[in-house]
Amino acid sequence: MIKNVYLCSLYNVVVYLHLIIIKVGQLQERYKSYREPQKFMEAGVYPYFRAITSKQGTEVEMAGQKVLMFGSNAYTGLTGDERIINAAKEALDKYGSGCAGSRFLNGTLDLHVQLEKELAEFEGKEDCLCFSTGFSVNAGVLAVVVGRGDYIICDDRDHASIVDGRRLSFAKQLHYKHNDMEDLENILKTLPKEAVKLIVVDGVFSMEGDLCKLPEIVELKHKYNCSIMVDEAHGVGVFGREGRGVCDHFGLTDEVDLIMGTFSKSLASIGGFIAGDADTINFIRHTCRTYIFSASDTPAATAAAMEALHILKSEPERLEALWKVTKYALRRFREEGFEIGDTESPIIPLYVHDIDKTFLVTKMAFDAGVFINPVIPPACAPQDTLVRFALMASHTEEQVERGVQALTKIFKELEIIK
Ligand SMILES: Cc1ncc(COP(=O)(O)O)c(C=O)c1O
Repeated sequence: MIKNVYLCSLYNVVVYLHLIIIKVGQLQERYKSYREPQKFMEAGVYPYFRAITSKQGTEVEMAGQKVLMFGSNAYTGLTGDERIINAAKEALDKYGSGCAGSRFLNGTLDLHVQLEKELAEFEGKEDCLCFSTGFSVNAGVLAVVVGRGDYIICDDRDHASIVDGRRLSFAKQLHYKHNDMEDLENILKTLPKEAVKLIVVDGVFSMEGDLCKLPEIVELKHKYNCSIMVDEAHGVGVFGREGRGVCDHFGLTDEVDLIMGTFSKSLASIGGFIAGDADTINFIRHTCRTYIFSASDTPAATAAAMEALHILKSEPERLEALWKVTKYALRRFREEGFEIGDTESPIIPLYVHDIDKTFLVTKMAFDAGVFINPVIPPACAPQDTLVRFALMASHTEEQVERGVQALTKIFKELEIIK
């Protein structure tokens, strides 16, 4: 009897271990050949996950060295602002470190409600919802606002979060060539007039820095009975009155049905928002899974975003400084013969057209004390690799000049420019 029990449990252990080995083995088997990152590590040019040991400003500290930061999305230059840091600290003291639940149940603070009210007003919409990231706004909102029998039409360079939101929706998914209004119209022509058709577009394209053709898209909206959602992740704090974004810049806020934004760039925090008419927002508030089934943004993050919004509204000189330094950088890169595409924003793409050279430029720039980001597929087409040089309102012309000169030397050495 004792022997039987012993054998039985031994058998169970063997089966259990066997299962573990098979399970772990399957994944290990599949991923042991994934060695792309290692190739670049071995070549000494791997450009990701580089640790910063200071605040995110125009200069950051990395491995004990000061590096000029041109890889940030902090266009307003507010991430180290003492007023924002103090607002976050006060919220931390008053409300604690987290909300321990979703907005739907126990995670709503008066701070969230106030920020939503202020953002709705800022964006010229009836209502607004705050999410814990910008990604979860796009992923969640697109999944619910259009469904079976509807159509969702995107620019083929829209952000990954729009692509993922589109995939989560049961609507028919279509996309048009980047900023090609003829292609968009050719698609719209084929769709039923009465069906719900949502055009979703980045206001500012995050890698190339060009703007969507909103006036033309609005014309097509009327011609083919569509709705429009604009992602203002890179528009807020950069374009429009007091940095309201690209919709405001074009004077077309009322024509855009939904405006999405994030706190992770100009608003010096983390989180995101969707603004629109009261009925659509009411529907999203009660159905959107990334809103209902995910914890709300932290008190500190919410307070920081709100303080950044107040500063944005009260300090127009910040926007002026951003545009002054942006114009300077655009002019200097053009003078030096860089290919910078159609950018019209503080995001300046410096085209390399070669993945290996893109990594090499990033590494050589870093060694010269300049932080820039490499952009390779899937963030761009394989033939369009680039390094992304982005400005903040707090950059000085002297800092930009140092960046331009370092990059000119590297691009010439690698024969990317003459
Ligand atoms: C155009 C665009 N939309 C959405 C997002 C997602 O925003 P977040 O960083 O707040 O998740 C980003 C961030 O990179 C973005 O560039």
